[in-house]
Amino acid sequence: MVFGNRHPLYLEIGFGNGEALTQLAQRHPDRNYLGIEVHRPGVGHLLLRLEELGLHNVRILRRDAVEMLRRHLPPHSLSGIYLWFPDPWPKKRHHKRRIVQPEFARLSARALACGGLLHMATDWEHYAQQMLEVMNAAEDFENTVARGGFVPRPEHRPLTKFEQRGQRLGHGVRDLVFRRR
Ligand SMILES: C[S@@+](CC[C@H](N)C(=O)[O-])C[C@H]1O[C@@H](n2cnc3c(N)ncnc32)[C@H](O)[C@@H]1O
Repeated sequence: MVFGNRHPLYLEIGFGNGEALTQLAQRHPDRNYLGIEVHRPGVGHLLLRLEELGLHNVRILRRDAVEMLRRHLPPHSLSGIYLWFPDPWPKKRHHKRRIVQPEFARLSARALACGGLLHMATDWEHYAQQMLEVMNAAEDFENTVARGGFVPRPEHRPLTKFEQRGQRLGHGVRDLVFRRR
């Protein structure tokens, strides 16, 4: 057993410098967290913070999160997935590189336990609309808001480095929370 307990497991994809994950892990010692990030300095930063704070409920993988979802994470193994401020790929010709695509929704649904939540946030309006479109079309998910749109910023979501950057640039932020049926 990787964590030595049976606490529920939450995944953060693309944790950046890991500060949000650190806050969550401190706040919820009764939960396990897995962070997946491809950027080596971010991984190093989080490892140092975890050691500094003596946190034992976080594990880190420096891998492509989509590959991990596709090949390694067992079905129904996650209680929640956080995707906060994924790379926006603003140019039209790069939109296909965005992580939120129908396949991502399918893989997330497979990895989540029934009732598990997929929480996304972005400060790029075009990407927010794409997320909504992809998720509304995903049969395995239901929107947690009745009229099928965005949710108000949940208080429990820590302020991330990229969110702060977006704020400085005057960007609005959209949050989406979908439940695995
Ligand atoms: C715009 S940054 C946001 C970082 C952090 N979530 C925040 O809000 O400050 C997006 C992060 O996702 C990571 N990333 C992009 N694609 C990824 C993938 N396929 N698997 C894991 N991490 C990925 C990048 O390395 C980058 O650190």
